[in-house]
Amino acid sequence: MKTFENPSDIQALSRKWRKAGKTIGFVPTMGALHPGHLELVKASNRENDKTVVSIYVNPIQFGPQEDFHRYPRTLEADLDLLKGEKVGAVFTPNNRTMYPKGFATQVSVSGSLVANLCAPFRPGHFEGVATVVVKLVNAVEPTRLYLGQKDAQQAAILRQVLKDLDLGLETVICPIVRESDGFAMSSRNKNLSLEGRATAPVLYRALKVGKSIVDLGETDTDKVLEEIKKVIQDERSVKIQYLEAVDLDSLETLRKVKQGKTLIALAAHLDNVRLIDNIVV
Ligand code: PAJ
Repeated sequence: MKTFENPSDIQALSRKWRKAGKTIGFVPTMGALHPGHLELVKASNRENDKTVVSIYVNPIQFGPQEDFHRYPRTLEADLDLLKGEKVGAVFTPNNRTMYPKGFATQVSVSGSLVANLCAPFRPGHFEGVATVVVKLVNAVEPTRLYLGQKDAQQAAILRQVLKDLDLGLETVICPIVRESDGFAMSSRNKNLSLEGRATAPVLYRALKVGKSIVDLGETDTDKVLEEIKKVIQDERSVKIQYLEAVDLDSLETLRKVKQGKTLIALAAHLDNVRLIDNIVV
């Protein structure tokens, strides 16, 4: 398993593979890898001849008050985990190779995809994500890109950006991987206290209550969200940032449930850690 820091080096390898007729799956990550990331790697391996994983904590997607400096960085352990999978190459760029002096470009997104959910609370975040992913994809030149439904808004935005910019690759979105108590896996979970970790499963418990209400026939999204909120508010330490029902593809606010096409998504703070989760109903 080879590691590359320079975009031009991973590109040379990728072009060699493509020339030999190989398909390439690409899994971009910020490291601190967990089984959620590894599911993306496994999906890529099933569907492609080669898999490339990138590990890079992208500074331009963090706001000035956000957790860039305390974002977990565990490169050695990450590489060990990837050795257990079939990974063709790991791309570990750095700020120098990604944003050399004079770098001045940003990919920006407008419309309903950035009107709701995380976007209003994280100004500049999705521009930072879109910019880095376009750069990573240009370096790796994959056949398919693997993203997690955990970051549903990110996945919807990136699918659109890559299509709009004619990057000519398929985007595959993989289901959320959870702990046995339902808590969605995330690199940031490492920053929770023991009490916080014990409380955190309330988020998914609440989302499932919402789903069961919809399954029983409720179509008014306000009523569904109200019930979800009640469950979460039983835990005083959890502060909801947003809880919304939106169209799964356009991310427009929904007043009425669209069967199978309604994304109920939330962000909440617990122990000063920002957690997100979602469910499709
Ligand atoms: P990161 O948070 O490391 O996530 C990398 C990929 O893993 C994303 O597509 C994310 O949705 C997916 N993922 C994380 N937790 C998951 C879980 N529990 N189940 C399924 N998939 C999960 O998202 C980013 O990094 C960055 O924004 C990035 C796209 C790499 C750009 O910097």
